[in-house]
Amino acid sequence: MSSQSPSLKADNTLGLDVSTQTRTIAETPNAILEAWQSSRMKDSPFLILGEGSNVLLLENFAGTVVLNRIKGIKIDEDVEAWKLHVGAGENWHQLVKTTLEKGITGLENLALIPGMVGSAPIQNIGAYGVELKDVCAYVDVLNLHNGNIERLHRDECQFAYRDSIFKHQYQSGYAIVAVGFSLSKQWHPVLTYGDLKTLNPATVTAWEVFNAVCTMRQSKLPDPAITGNVGSFFKNPVIPHEQAAELLARFSDMPHYPQPSGEVKLAAGWLIDRCQLKGLRIGGAAVHQQQALVLINAENATPQDFVALAREVRAQVGEKFDVWLEPEVRFIKAQGECNAVEVIS
Ligand code: FAD
Ligand code: EPU
Repeated sequence: MSSQSPSLKADNTLGLDVSTQTRTIAETPNAILEAWQSSRMKDSPFLILGEGSNVLLLENFAGTVVLNRIKGIKIDEDVEAWKLHVGAGENWHQLVKTTLEKGITGLENLALIPGMVGSAPIQNIGAYGVELKDVCAYVDVLNLHNGNIERLHRDECQFAYRDSIFKHQYQSGYAIVAVGFSLSKQWHPVLTYGDLKTLNPATVTAWEVFNAVCTMRQSKLPDPAITGNVGSFFKNPVIPHEQAAELLARFSDMPHYPQPSGEVKLAAGWLIDRCQLKGLRIGGAAVHQQQALVLINAENATPQDFVALAREVRAQVGEKFDVWLEPEVRFIKAQGECNAVEVIS
């Protein structure tokens, strides 16, 4: 790594020691646009990052990395709901806390998810029974080709499990600059997941849900400030009903979640755990002991350590269950994003 190249080590939660040619902090949509135009003129690669909590940077980036830091939280209300317009560079967890402090409920199940508000719609972040799509009203995107800001209403965002239009049609040439939320004044606690089931729906408060979610998360997920990680490294696989039935005949204790489509979602963490891969280490990268779906930077891991470990995990789960895991984390090469499944196949 050249001494002039800015480091991205603090800009990715895996703590990988890679660099970029140019690193820019953008506090306005216009700053993102200018950075894009200047990289177009040089015909060089361009990447927007929030907190880098869902990326695997495979090598030094050969262009411009723009760190989205567009701030601002505007709160309106009507009779039924609180309406929030939030700058894409606000920290997600801080937003959850700020709303609760103001007596605004609805985001509590999504506490402690790292990253920026503007990144949340991209994979439709979800946890403990709630997804971004349940609270999102709209997403404002800057069209980098013409400088216009377009508003996509929730129904236009094609939200699905860990997916949205921002991973497809609106992936390249667009920057998310703000997210709108609609949070009902009639609070309906979501207590369907894990330890939340033990809370009393008649008396529970949003702060209690928030605290329970934080406690559950802290018991399983490593704090990226201490141990590098990107949360779930793989998506939970969604497989045909027939294949799930065959697997259940062999593994009756296998967690499985029937989907409205008729397909069945499995728990990737359980599949990896069943292959007895907890603690498996390649170089400095390891499968987390408390949650097998999390790969951690145990000690000075390189991007190649993570690739080798993810490949091994995918191969072992595939051989045992004939279920082929796909990364949730986005793989970024020198020129930009690449196909993560191809890299680890
Ligand atoms: P980044 O990693 O910086 O970016 C992710 C992708 O979005 C990249 O491809 C980037 O180029 C693109 N991008 C970023 N900002 C913009 C923008 N403004 N416009 C256009 N493209 C952009 N996720 C969940 O869904 N549920 C969880 O429970 C969860 N738990 C986690 C726990 C831990 C400990 C960690 C480390 C991660 C967890 N994640 C979880 C994953 C991660 O927090 C989310 O995906 C988060 O939304 C990523 O935000 P970020 O700002 O770090 O995005
Ligand atoms: N399990 C094991 N062993 C493990 C890990 C999990 O047996 O090592 C079992 C658990 O006992 C449980 C099942 O697998 O029966 C599911 O585990 P958990 O509740 O921990 O959830 P997950 O499927 O591993 C998903 C999301 C998380 C989200 C949690 C809570 C994905 C890919 N991951 O994890 O999101 O926080 O549910 O809702 O959907 C992320 O996306 O980065 C992320 C952390």
